[in-house]
Amino acid sequence: MSYPITRHRRLRRTSALRSLVRETQLTVNDFIYPLFVTHGTGVKEEIPSMPGVYHLSLDLLKAQIDAVVASGVQAVLVFGVPDSKDAAGTSAYDEKGIVQQAIRAIKGWAPGLVVVADTCLCQFTDHGHCGLIHHDKHTGVAEVDNDPSLELLVRAAVSQAEAGADIIAPSNMMDGFVAAIRDGLDAAGYEMIPIMSYSVKYASAFYGPFRDAAHSTPQFGDRKTYQMDPANAREALREAESDVVEGADMLMVKPALAYLDILRMLKEHFDLPVVAYNVSAEYSMVKAAASNGWIDERAVVLETLTGMKRAGADLIITYHALDAARWLRGE
Ligand code: PBG
Repeated sequence: MSYPITRHRRLRRTSALRSLVRETQLTVNDFIYPLFVTHGTGVKEEIPSMPGVYHLSLDLLKAQIDAVVASGVQAVLVFGVPDSKDAAGTSAYDEKGIVQQAIRAIKGWAPGLVVVADTCLCQFTDHGHCGLIHHDKHTGVAEVDNDPSLELLVRAAVSQAEAGADIIAPSNMMDGFVAAIRDGLDAAGYEMIPIMSYSVKYASAFYGPFRDAAHSTPQFGDRKTYQMDPANAREALREAESDVVEGADMLMVKPALAYLDILRMLKEHFDLPVVAYNVSAEYSMVKAAASNGWIDERAVVLETLTGMKRAGADLIITYHALDAARWLRGE
């Protein structure tokens, strides 16, 4: 018999050898943890499709922030669930809005924690779209009006920076939003606040649980005229390229799991940090299977997050962040 020419198993023989040749290391510094903040007091309401994720009122947010700090996770992403909505999403850029209040509170409790603000209108508009609605003058069809929406998004971003946000993360997918927000932030004296752009955001069914959580389901139509077609890859390069030109500091791909090829492509084409958003339905699927005893939650989550990092993610926004941090500590 002849011996195998190559023995791949030599470097897999022991746990120590495997760790010496491991190419990807997942660490707690990779994570950004999303939070849903709401009005009132004493509110801690679990989102039914996202076990372990809550709507929190500001008085109960403190305990959650303490848990984040204790976990070693360095950054949170703040989403607001407001008590009033209107056609122009006014509560998105109200200095006393729920997001602005939450950012102020968090920076007071944990000044060193990086607070990322999601900048969009869909949670704040009564129609649930990410911009202002106008009617096409020929057909009468309602559509999202790009340029007037930019002004409102700039106001939202500036009010978030004023409240103390460390990073602005615009997720609205209007054309020109990075340039408009960069201009607005600079003019208001926030030239050092970076923009984490949701550069490549697909019109995805994987946001379903989030929309239940944030009450942001569009009341008519869908988001396909502004979010990307899941079938397209080269278009993702055009989206990212324009964000780079407009001054983005980080590029995001969302969702993550079904789009790891896009993550890798961005990593190869651009030198900016790349962020993966491990979105709500990706979380819900794991939770559902785990609660049925069908999968080993810990192993599946760590494997998934490692896969995102291997594909090119420098940062991962994930609802699993606190659990993953604990598991990485070996608990
Ligand atoms: C707001 C926004 C959405 C998500 C993040 N920011 C929803 C959407 O675009 O419909 C989804 C996050 C998730 O599913 O976890 N535009």
